[in-house]
Amino acid sequence: MDVYGLVGNPVEHSLSPPMHEAGFEALGLDARYVTFEPADAAAAIRGAAALGVAGLNVTVPFKRDALAAVEPDELAARVGAVNTVDFSTDPPSGHNTDVAGVARALSHHGVDPAGTAAVVVGAGGAARAAAFALAGSADSLHVANRTERRAEALAADVREAGAERESAGESGAGTGVTAGGLDTLVDRVPAADLLVNATSVGMESDETPVPAAHLHADLAVLDAVYAPLDTRLLRDARAAGATTVDGAWMLLYQGVEAFERWTGEDAPVDAMNAALRREL
Ligand code: ATR
Repeated sequence: MDVYGLVGNPVEHSLSPPMHEAGFEALGLDARYVTFEPADAAAAIRGAAALGVAGLNVTVPFKRDALAAVEPDELAARVGAVNTVDFSTDPPSGHNTDVAGVARALSHHGVDPAGTAAVVVGAGGAARAAAFALAGSADSLHVANRTERRAEALAADVREAGAERESAGESGAGTGVTAGGLDTLVDRVPAADLLVNATSVGMESDETPVPAAHLHADLAVLDAVYAPLDTRLLRDARAAGATTVDGAWMLLYQGVEAFERWTGEDAPVDAMNAALRREL
């Protein structure tokens, strides 16, 4: 039996175990997915390697700490966060599937970030994943956050990664990246094609980080919040005629991407999605 798991704190209410176990079951794989709340994530990852654990996800507050215990791939190193560890190599490799989670959630809904004016609200872990997912393909990216200094720091990291891509001769380094406080949304959102809420505003509450008056029909809106699934932002966006994508799609696709890396199989997306939405 292969053992997979999630390292974080708290992880008690995580939706990853039912989602991954539904995937294992659908493919007939002899595997289990369990949760761990260690005090020290790097020590836990080293211990898991010694125990023969096959793969781990890493969540809040350990995504940065995990870098110390793995060989990060280029994306995880650029983002500065690891959410997936693969133990098939020694040392184990570290990946960031949150970035692909954003890209695949959008793609599933026919939203192509290429050439868009994109706005990410927030500057925490979810915002980092969204910003790195959009950088390189969006024409422009604006990061707006309550604490403006954090938005500027994230924008600087994304710009630096773009410069690295450019010097490596890779395409897609041309995204113009700007940052500001939440007061910049009034100008940015009406001119945007794509909006991602990566703040916690709307979680277990009926608040929205973006006033409804700024939303419009030519906008696609992804809300990283998934509890509730239908946030006030998404309801306002739908009322404005915008395309909407709920946060469970991001959660699903970061898991799908990890599942595929671990098992080498195409993930049974429908089974994993059904299990996730049953829990929500
Ligand atoms: P995560 O890693 O899950 O993204 P985080 O690092 O705690 O979590 O980030 C939470 C984000 O939500 C931040 O961008 C935070 O803004 P600050 O950087 O100013 O703290 C944002 N956020 C949380 N509560 C908010 C509120 N009431 N209004 C506006 N933004 C809020």
